[in-house]
Amino acid sequence: MSSSAILPALLAILLGALATTALAAPTAARQKELIHLVRQDCGSCHGLTLQGGLGPALLPATLAGKPVEGLVATVVGGRTGTPMPPWHRFLTEDEAQWIVEKLMTGFPE
Ligand code: HEC
Repeated sequence: MSSSAILPALLAILLGALATTALAAPTAARQKELIHLVRQDCGSCHGLTLQGGLGPALLPATLAGKPVEGLVATVVGGRTGTPMPPWHRFLTEDEAQWIVEKLMTGFPE
């Protein structure tokens, strides 16, 4: 490989890595939809104020210390054998991660 071909190749590898690791934050409009979904749909089990109901509370204090990936997996795939349904038909994994991060820091109104 000539030196002029190495740089584009390196760039391609770097950009590929970035694309797979970076969290694509939802647009402002999509964030509004997601907030509505969590308050309405998730709220039907987890409580309209997310303090718990059929499902456990989803508040920063109750989620503290739990691994983010595990919580994202629960939202995307649900929990077999429990009423927690999978949401992958309605949410991307990035969106589920955004929701979990917001739940852990205090969910917007
Ligand atoms: C039909 C009721 C129901 C709905 C709707 C629901 N959940 Fe759940 N969820 C549950 C139950 C029940 C559990 C506890 C499962 C268990 O026993 O491990 C749970 C667990 C979870 C957990 C894991 C909590 C922890 O402390 O480990 C997260 C995170 C979660 N739900 C997020 C959501 C989100 C986000 C939505 C909406 C997109 C949602 N849930 C909608 C019933 C529901």
